[in-house]
Amino acid sequence: MNTPDFDKAKFRKTLGQFATGVTVITTLGADERRVGVTVSSFNSLSMNPPMILWSLGKSAYSLPAFQQADFFNVHVLGAEQGALSRCFSNPGADKFNGIKTQKGLGGAPVLPEHAALFECKTAHLYEGGDHIIIVGEVIKFSCNNTTPLVFHRGQYRGIDSLA
Ligand SMILES: Cc1cc2nc3c(=O)[nH]c(=O)nc-3n(C[C@H](O)[C@H](O)[C@H](O)COP(=O)(O)O)c2cc1C
Repeated sequence: MNTPDFDKAKFRKTLGQFATGVTVITTLGADERRVGVTVSSFNSLSMNPPMILWSLGKSAYSLPAFQQADFFNVHVLGAEQGALSRCFSNPGADKFNGIKTQKGLGGAPVLPEHAALFECKTAHLYEGGDHIIIVGEVIKFSCNNTTPLVFHRGQYRGIDSLA
């Protein structure tokens, strides 16, 4: 519980000083609907076994799909994919409108463009305050030599513009 003098806006702003990449993480819902969300909490976790983690807000529409899914795909976005990031950060929207995807492991959708791709098997789910921490075992991965998209202080940046 926040103490009365806890400054939420300042906490958010302070966290924003941590520059991250941007990912879109996708899965296939129980109803065969494609599900995806923009995520910057992605990080590497373990080399042996190969694992990654990320966290999803408990109020996200896509949470039940990710809690039930056996597989999900992490797409690291390239510098030119700011519009895609904005699209997948739209709560509850049909974010795949007009996007052709391929079927990855377990049918989880693979987006046509990305700087890197990690196809994961859901390994663990943990409570983390108002988020659920999702740990995936990396089954397949691939990398393009694209410049990545960067998110810093609430803005999309090029990798050379972190002044
Ligand atoms: C750059 C960026 C990074 C984000 N990272 C996260 C994140 O790590 N975890 C999260 O739960 N939401 C994150 N969000 C917010 C979600 O993308 C947003 O809440 C989305 O609407 C959730 O979709 P849903 O409600 O349809 O599941 C991020 C948004 C942006 C723009």
